[in-house]
Amino acid sequence: MNYPFWDISIGYGLFMAAVAVIHVFVSHFAIGGGLYLVVTEHYARKRNDLETLDYLQRLSKYFVLITVVFGALSGVGIWFIIGLLNPAATQMLIHNFVWVWATEWTFFVVEILASLLYYYGWQRMSAKDHLKLGWIYFIAAWLSLFAINGIITFMLTPGDWLVTGDFWDSFFNPTFWPSLVTRTGICVMLGGLYAMLAINRSVSPEAKKRIVRNNALWGLVGVAIIVPAFMWYVQVLPGSLMSAAQEVMPGVIHSVRSTHWLAGAIALLLIVFGLARPKRQNKIVTVVTMLLALGWFSGFELFREGIRKPYVIPGYMYANAIEVAKIDDYTADGYLPHIAFRTGDDGADLYRRACQSCHTIDGYRKLKPAFDGTDIEFIAGVVRGSEAVIGAMPPFYGTVEESEALAEYIQRFTDNRPLEEVYELAGVELGKKVFEVRCGVCHEFGGRNDNRESLTGLSPDEYDEILEYSGEFDDNMPAFTGTTAQWEALVLYLQTLE
Ligand code: HEC
Ligand code: HEC
Repeated sequence: MNYPFWDISIGYGLFMAAVAVIHVFVSHFAIGGGLYLVVTEHYARKRNDLETLDYLQRLSKYFVLITVVFGALSGVGIWFIIGLLNPAATQMLIHNFVWVWATEWTFFVVEILASLLYYYGWQRMSAKDHLKLGWIYFIAAWLSLFAINGIITFMLTPGDWLVTGDFWDSFFNPTFWPSLVTRTGICVMLGGLYAMLAINRSVSPEAKKRIVRNNALWGLVGVAIIVPAFMWYVQVLPGSLMSAAQEVMPGVIHSVRSTHWLAGAIALLLIVFGLARPKRQNKIVTVVTMLLALGWFSGFELFREGIRKPYVIPGYMYANAIEVAKIDDYTADGYLPHIAFRTGDDGADLYRRACQSCHTIDGYRKLKPAFDGTDIEFIAGVVRGSEAVIGAMPPFYGTVEESEALAEYIQRFTDNRPLEEVYELAGVELGKKVFEVRCGVCHEFGGRNDNRESLTGLSPDEYDEILEYSGEFDDNMPAFTGTTAQWEALVLYLQTLE
């Protein structure tokens, strides 16, 4: 299927991340908070602890508000956004998982009804019925996580489904279980953290001590689950995903370590201000702990998003909705014949098709600075060599003419004076800039396509020769098309390499 494109200025990735991270931060609390409420209520009733029951009733009010109103709205928001950003992937997910979505929504309706009745029932129901309702809420909420977890994990590790096409292979894919355990741990942790927010002056010091300790324990149990479960999750990721990320986006792999530091900091705050000095627990500590938890969670979600780049479903579809199965068609006759909604501006359509899912011209992941001061041949060469650019970019499967039309489109927005004028540089400084712009998009010393060795210690003539034959080194490498001043400055700069 073919869809029109949606142009937004802030960039697809940032927009999605903003809504999604907030949504998951609330929706996981919706599950963990449910378990927290019903378990804590059970023990409070057993001890006839009226103060805790009073606190729980207050908590459940804002629990309903946050989860039902905000959680549901942001969830619907995600549907709108993914449907507009990547309709092809959304369509695929709907087709393959139609019964899973139906099941998930059924659980969701049960969840909403149960939460409203649970709040309503504090004064009006027997303790037994009220607790039963709490359990119905939690079980429905957790099962909705179970259902959606199969879909989210599929988008990272479609596993055997790529070969078998079997539904169960897609649902119970390699990361299904570790992700479910990690997310359940997140739910438990957030249940305890959010609950801290409902502690106010109406709680007596004695009760506060009890409640804070209980909440901190929930948070700590959650942390104790998420750390090993996340390590398990990383462990089961296919080696190919990990090594690809290591090569093109090492930062994504390093982010795992920062999540461990965050988990440690959360645990420390919970132990100090929760277990040891519960009286010291206050709104500031709570908010800081929650921000750390939001940081942990964002790290986890960004790792998941980052590691699957340049794909949206590894091995099946690239993030720009290019289906792997259709690559031969694109290579044969280019992208344009396969774009149903053409605007008449081929360059713009190609940009939307090939780049817009991950870049903006002048906002998030902006392209303008990389191309300011360059020329159409260079831009077109980088487009054709997309695969080799630092970052996790899909290959460009369009034709040479299409790469030029796309380059011509990008050039409308860039500074078209030569680099030496754009940056007002000369000599070695200019050479450094030329290298950064014309070579550095693909070559990183000590990193990707490291060519330091081949560029060090040569004579000026040899450098001239490299630039002369630069178009013949690799299919993904463009010829040097800079001005004479840039050429000379680059050779000067290369002579300074050690
Ligand atoms: C799957 C997502 C994706 C797609 C599609 C994509 N890119 Fe990229 N691109 C990236 C990522 C990720 C980076 C690394 C950005 C970073 O490190 O900040 C990158 C980096 C770049 C850079 C280097 C930017 C710099 O400042 O060094 C250029 C140039 C570039 N892309 C051009 C393009 C062009 C042109 C297209 C379309 C033909 C395209 N990209 C399509 C993800 C993508
Ligand atoms: C669009 C990506 C791209 C750009 C831009 C680019 N190269 Fe390359 N280059 C490659 C690829 C891919 C290879 C082959 C793989 C490799 O050797 O790392 C390569 C190979 C080379 C080699 C061969 C030997 C070696 O050690 O890898 C040299 C030398 C080189 N490039 C120099 C340059 C210089 C100088 C510039 C800037 C004027 C430049 N490249 C710009 C992608 C690029």
